[in-house]
This record gives sequence, C-alpha cells and structure tokens, in this order.
Amino acid sequence: MASASACRIGPSILGSDLSRLASECERMMESGADYLHLDVMDGNFVPNITFGHPVVECLRKNLGQDPFFDMHMMVSKPEQWVKPMAAAGASQYTFHLEATDNPGALIKEIRASGMKVGLGIKPGTTVEYLAPWACQIDMALVMTVEPGFGGQKFMEDMMPKVHWLRTQFPSLDIEVDGGVGPDNIHKCVEAGANMIVSGNAIIKSEDPRSVINLLKNVCAEVAQKRSLDR
Ligand code: DX5
Ligand code: ZN
Repeated sequence: MASASACRIGPSILGSDLSRLASECERMMESGADYLHLDVMDGNFVPNITFGHPVVECLRKNLGQDPFFDMHMMVSKPEQWVKPMAAAGASQYTFHLEATDNPGALIKEIRASGMKVGLGIKPGTTVEYLAPWACQIDMALVMTVEPGFGGQKFMEDMMPKVHWLRTQFPSLDIEVDGGVGPDNIHKCVEAGANMIVSGNAIIKSEDPRSVINLLKNVCAEVAQKRSLDR
C-alpha cells in the first residue's frame, strides 16, 4: 500500500513582521522551509483578520514560482475565494469542513482551478466527518488549536484524530497546525502527520534555520524508528 510522502515543514508566517511579508517568507525558505503556510482570516469564521488574495498575488510575484503556498482559508465563504486565489498563484486551497454545506462541489471547483485540495477540521469536529472526503483530497488538516491566533497551546488530545486518519488513509497527506514546535512535534509525527505547520516556534526564534533543522531531525528519527519496528 502506498504511504504518505516524507515529512515537510511549513512555517506559518502569521506571527512574522507582516509589514515585510515577502522578505519574511524569503527568510523562511532560505532557512529550509519546505513550504509556506499562509493563514487567511475573514473576521467571521474566526475572530481575527489577516489578508486575502491581493497580498498572495504580490507574494507570488515577489517570490517566484518555486515556493508552495498552502492557503489556510479560515473564512466563512470558502467558495468565494477559489478563483481569485488560483489566479493569485496559490498552490493549495485548504478550507474548513465547518464552513461549507457542500464540500464535494468545492473540492471539484478547487481541483478544476488547478490547485491542490486541503480539508481542515477544528478541534471540536470529529474526524469521521472528514472521512467521506478523504479519497478526494490531497491533504487533511487537523487543527491542534482553535483557529484564529498564533502562539496558543498545542492540544495533544487531537493526536488520536491524526492516528485514525493515518490508519484509514495511509497515502493521505496529514497536516497539523497550532502550537507545534520542538517540544511536541514527535507526538504529531508518531501519530502519522507528515505536513507540519509551525508558527511562533520558528518565526520568533533568533535562529529559524536551527529550529527547522531540529524539527526535520525529529521527523527523520521517528521515520527511522518506524522502519526498524517493521
Ligand atoms: C492559527 C493558525 C496557525 C498559527 C500557527 O489559527 O492557523 O497557522 O499561525 O502558529 P503557532 O505555531 O504559533 O500556533
Ligand atoms: Zn494555519
């Protein structure tokens, strides 16, 4: 059976100096980030507001075609932003299951627009709701904090969701987001996550390269242990 690809680290730039977003993104890529996790908030789905597709378009122009933009759409009307985000240069459109009545149509629309599809659930949503869509998406996002703000405490009790998804869908990309850093990444990877969002732990560090390296080393250790256990 196919298994998910190797662990990737995607810094969330929410806690960066937002007045210098392009150079902050560049700094992350130069420090070894595998992709960029860009948090879009509409002040409605979550009690906070960030930026939308016009900023993404500028980032794409500034950073070139290479960086993978994982758009974490914390918005009430995810249908509304599919085309503008695709046109702006988004690579993956990760919407929340709680925000739509018709995930099937939205998945098709995202794919038709040329982006990869991510589907996220908040801490209060059980993972069985996501399961019917798992074969149609590229990535499942298990939130490990209530969406809305960076710098919150990691919710370890979300790990059974990750483990359940990994058991049911061995080749699915599974992302964790919220409060993840060197202290707890092993729990996420052991449970089966392979796309690791880390915000403040990386961005607020004086040496983001070392933190990203450390996170990657933990991923490699867990993978090695797993292959020895087989
Ligand atoms: C929270 C966002 C996260 C956040 C992660 O709603 O979705 O991406 O920025 O930041 P940390 O790792 O600081 O929790
Ligand atoms: Zn996020």
